[in-house]
Amino acid sequence: MVEAVIDCCPRLTTERFVLRKWEARDLDGLAEMNADPRVMEFYPSVLSYAESESMLARYMDAQQQDGVCFSVISEKGSERFLGYCGLKVPGYQDHLAFGPCVEIGWRLLHNEWGKGIATEAAQTWLRFGLETLQLNEIVSFTPIQNHRSEKVMQRLGMERIGEFEHPMLEDGHRLKRQVLYKMTGQRYLGQGHD
Ligand SMILES: CC(C)(COP(=O)(O)OP(=O)(O)OC[C@H]1O[C@@H](n2cnc3c(N)ncnc32)[C@H](O)[C@@H]1OP(=O)(O)O)[C@@H](O)C(=O)NCCC(=O)NCCS
Repeated sequence: MVEAVIDCCPRLTTERFVLRKWEARDLDGLAEMNADPRVMEFYPSVLSYAESESMLARYMDAQQQDGVCFSVISEKGSERFLGYCGLKVPGYQDHLAFGPCVEIGWRLLHNEWGKGIATEAAQTWLRFGLETLQLNEIVSFTPIQNHRSEKVMQRLGMERIGEFEHPMLEDGHRLKRQVLYKMTGQRYLGQGHD
């Protein structure tokens, strides 16, 4: 069976980066990123060190259970932690009108913004999801205020589907209104990727 031999979260390389599974040594970088209010502006709150520790444990678990979970971006050579990018099955997908789904997402240390890192990593994950895993489509969503994240979706050639209310945030929450983008296998092929 193909499913049995494909590692859904393999070590991938791009021109500048290594994309790999989470390891215990990633905790300090993850915690630094999650504690930074500039990085966490469009999330409900910054995370404490302990909260990042449980997030790392959850992500390592999801890698085992679902085969994928936003994976680490590290710099080739130095192996420095830069952030994460990858595919993930949202834990709350039954509450999403467009679920079940696989999403693509990203988060970078603030010093690493403006270098094309998220786009380069996401291009590799899109190709892996649509060509190797043969997913029909990959979605991405972000609060309507998060223009930097939306620009990544646009640079990837994803289609803007519309807006929706995030089901896991209470009514009136500043981040409730979100924008939804999608890349289908057909659209991807139509853009000349082979
Ligand atoms: C969302 C986020 C990953 C976007 O980061 P980003 O640096 O803007 O996006 P990229 O890594 O793709 O880099 C693109 C930028 O680098 C520039 N760039 C510089 N060198 C480049 C290169 N070699 N290749 C491509 N782009 C390059 C681009 O021109 C672009 O600049 P611009 O923003 O002025 O248009 C980042 O803002 C972030 O981590 N935010 C916090 C977490 C978050 O909100 N995640 C999304 C939640 S849904």
